[in-house]
Amino acid sequence: MKLLRLLVLLLVLPAYAQQGGMWIPSLLKGMNEKEMKSLGMKMTAEDIYSVNHSSLKDAVPHFNGGCTSEVISSKGLLLTNHHCGFGEIQAHSTIDHDYLTDGFWAMTLEEELPNPDMEATFIIRIEDVTNKVLEGTQSITSEKERQKKIQDNIASLTRSLPKESWQENSIRTFYEGNQYMLFVTETYKDVRLVGAPPSSIGKFGSDTDNWVWPRHTGDFSLFRIYASKDNKPAEYSKDNIPYTPKHFFPVSIGGIRENDFTMVFGYPGRTTEYLPAVAVEQIVNVLNPAKIEVRDAALKVADGFMRKDNAIKIQYAAKYASIANYWKKWIGESQGLKKSNAVAIKKKFEKDFLAKAAKAGKQGEYGNLFTEFEKNYKEIEPYSLARDYFMEVALRNTELLTTGYRLYQLEQVYNARGEQSFTDRKANTIAALEGVFKDFNKDVDEKVFEQLIALYGTKSPKQFLPQEVIGADYKALTASVYSTSKLTSLNGVKELLEGDAKTVIAKLNADRGYQLIKAMADAYSTKVAPKYDEINLKIASLQRTYMKGILELSPKDARIFPDANSTLRVTYGKVNGYEPRDATYYEPVTYLDGVIEKYIPGDYEFDVPAKLIDLYNKKDYGPYGENGKMPVCFIGTNHTTGGNSGSPAIDARGNLIGLNFDRVWEGTMSDIYYDPSICRNIMVDMRYVLFIIDKYAGCKRLIDEMKIVDGKKNKRKK
Ligand code: ARG
Ligand code: ASP
Repeated sequence: MKLLRLLVLLLVLPAYAQQGGMWIPSLLKGMNEKEMKSLGMKMTAEDIYSVNHSSLKDAVPHFNGGCTSEVISSKGLLLTNHHCGFGEIQAHSTIDHDYLTDGFWAMTLEEELPNPDMEATFIIRIEDVTNKVLEGTQSITSEKERQKKIQDNIASLTRSLPKESWQENSIRTFYEGNQYMLFVTETYKDVRLVGAPPSSIGKFGSDTDNWVWPRHTGDFSLFRIYASKDNKPAEYSKDNIPYTPKHFFPVSIGGIRENDFTMVFGYPGRTTEYLPAVAVEQIVNVLNPAKIEVRDAALKVADGFMRKDNAIKIQYAAKYASIANYWKKWIGESQGLKKSNAVAIKKKFEKDFLAKAAKAGKQGEYGNLFTEFEKNYKEIEPYSLARDYFMEVALRNTELLTTGYRLYQLEQVYNARGEQSFTDRKANTIAALEGVFKDFNKDVDEKVFEQLIALYGTKSPKQFLPQEVIGADYKALTASVYSTSKLTSLNGVKELLEGDAKTVIAKLNADRGYQLIKAMADAYSTKVAPKYDEINLKIASLQRTYMKGILELSPKDARIFPDANSTLRVTYGKVNGYEPRDATYYEPVTYLDGVIEKYIPGDYEFDVPAKLIDLYNKKDYGPYGENGKMPVCFIGTNHTTGGNSGSPAIDARGNLIGLNFDRVWEGTMSDIYYDPSICRNIMVDMRYVLFIIDKYAGCKRLIDEMKIVDGKKNKRKK
């Protein structure tokens, strides 16, 4: 009897048993729609994406190219993460008005703060243009020429395909060059800061809690889109008016339960889910460890200074957070790939793939694929490693070298395009460096440099290194650079940049720091980059063939989604806890009680504002609490990645229930291998967002302009 039940269960076991995937919103009809409904969704594919009437996609703009945001009122109120608005909040902060520390709340429209260079981009429609893009490529055999033809086609189609004058066209590739899609977009350029909680709420737990569940961060901030009088995109003007959206999300205070349907709609940046096993092995064994070691050293030095010196702590806070973010992710990723046996699983997949190919009589096309992958990945390994060392050491973690590299590019521009281009670029370079030097400390940078140049000189493949760093006395090398180079202060750099191109270049080449970065950059661009690009092109073409094979040889309704490419995607799943390790289960919801448990008075990561403690003690949660408790964050089985930050988490009827901002530690490998048993995304519960706006900040006017629904009772209204 039991056996029979099990058998029946296995037979009807729905596809979502192995969930994951980030899907193209215009292609949900069929398999996805069916699966979403089986998970509890009460909407149709047309409610999510429609060209003819308003749909959810009209409320989900790309936020400044990197994050996602959503419109939550009829007056263009925009919600995103605190860490996505961080730069703007910081830019408006001064000693007297420290919005990062204290929070910011515009109590009227007039108090909302403009942000130069900020953008919110809406998708108007998505169209398949594969045939047009590939026109004339069938007969080309050289991969390089094929790519060139495709680029030319894309450029001319982008210009010629129909759009309104205030819109833009862009074409992106999907499935590694097997499909091309056109995106028609509208970009709003007047986006103002409306509200942000203090960092002790918006960044609570900081780097210690980053990538970790259970989480207690109120990671949100509020902006508003402004438009011209006729509701069109416009540059900032005080005459602009709040934007009227085609759609905005009602906000649900109905609460969430384990196993409720959730959908996350946003702009995932980049994933590589179809890498061959050999590539994953290389990431785990060679590339991740190298990058982690470099950042480990850089972070240790910075941390030592930040703990002793408050001014340095403030100067390096944002830099530290951004370096630490991927450092920590790579560690989690490597661990997760090992623990989930990703390499073995991929090897098995490849074996099955070859068997299917043989059965379909396609051995000729696919039979050599993995031998070719092996060969090319083996060949590219030292180049990839050298590339990572150059990037991490010179371009990301030591500011003297990064600054030097900008000037190196200036010299290149002069050599390639002459005096006028040089002069134009010089102005931009100076402006950019003003920002860099605001938060620069020579002692910190020197100590970081000393560590990193030694790693570069001893661990990066020797055959590509400039002679002077191989086996050098790194202490002496560091001292010789930092005691004389003018690249350690803004004034020094400005001095170097004074005069015409010839004069500047002569001065640069006499500078000890410049000489070093020039030698490093020359070595990289002559010995590493060309060969790297060449092999990489071969790998890309193999990957395209592999992808084509996967699509061709899988059953019709197989769940094969295209890798993330910063375009709008839908991912869906359920509110769900998980078992991170033996005998441990993580519940899917956290509460304010957990904030108080983590509270460390005065700590820079775990301090809690007095007012929040007060509200907690009084249990003054208004309509947002549940059974006397205040929910804070929750997790689900939605497949997300970097770029999904700020994405709306949506319930079965299209109401907003959460705000996506992170993933759990055990599942950070989901960019390479998604394991549904331990990959979870982390969201702020919208009830916590509303509670902070209403009860903590007293910014009632914002609550009043939203449409609050009890998602359990109310049907979704347009
Ligand atoms: N890990 C999240 C993401 O990749 C949040 C990063 C911001 N928070 C931080 N502590 N650095 O963007
Ligand atoms: N924190 C990421 C972001 O900023 C999201 C993620 O990687 O899960 O986009």
